[in-house]
Amino acid sequence: MRIDIATLFPEMCETVLNESIVGRARKNSLVEIVCHNIRDYTLDKHRRVDDTPYGGGKGMVMQADPIFKCYQQVCEIIGTKPHVIYMSPQGKPLVQTRSMELSKFEYIFILCGHYEGVDERIITTIVDEEVSIGDYVLTGGELPALVLTDSIVRLCDGVLSDSECFEQESHFNGLLEYPQYTRPEVWQEQQVPEVLLSGHHANIESWRKEQSLIRTLNKRPDMLENAVLTEKDQKTLKYIITQK
Ligand code: ADE
Repeated sequence: MRIDIATLFPEMCETVLNESIVGRARKNSLVEIVCHNIRDYTLDKHRRVDDTPYGGGKGMVMQADPIFKCYQQVCEIIGTKPHVIYMSPQGKPLVQTRSMELSKFEYIFILCGHYEGVDERIITTIVDEEVSIGDYVLTGGELPALVLTDSIVRLCDGVLSDSECFEQESHFNGLLEYPQYTRPEVWQEQQVPEVLLSGHHANIESWRKEQSLIRTLNKRPDMLENAVLTEKDQKTLKYIITQK
């Protein structure tokens, strides 16, 4: 997979994308991520990328042309049209299932907006999808683009090792993850649940499933509507509810 990020702050993106698991995936060539400075695509001698909005109003609007030139260059390099995502609070809120789908794409181009947004014509011309990372407004699309990139890259084949695998995680099966413990066995007079020390794998698995259900019910009951539950899970859930 290759991800191109068009931004006014490529260094900010590089700093984050060179760290941790995403940084390792890049070094190991499991993903290619290229950050482009939109300013490099202006013809203006002042490298201007924004202007005042037609019709008046406050703030500045990012111009369509430098973004389009950047997009065109990427199309030329990869030899096809990438899937274009514009990070915007007006987009569809990001969820794990969408990250999973996006991790199967070969080419993704992420556009980060700034100021009062981008000229609407770039959205209608090149954007396939607008994505939001939540109902709040940030100063720009860079942090959202980094969140999106991280959530996609970690799901790409070979990026996570077996021990880091995402299959037990919160949201993977529509439930929140069970609680985790590590050494020491007793910390501040709090004992690790006995079942986890038992070595009895079937009991541990049932306990974890039950904990996942309890947590989801307590913290995110809305998720239970879409969670895929076995008959046994449904019985356990009913039992948990009667015990509340
Ligand atoms: N740009 C500014 N705020 C944003 C948000 N919440 N999600 C995506 N892009 C944004």
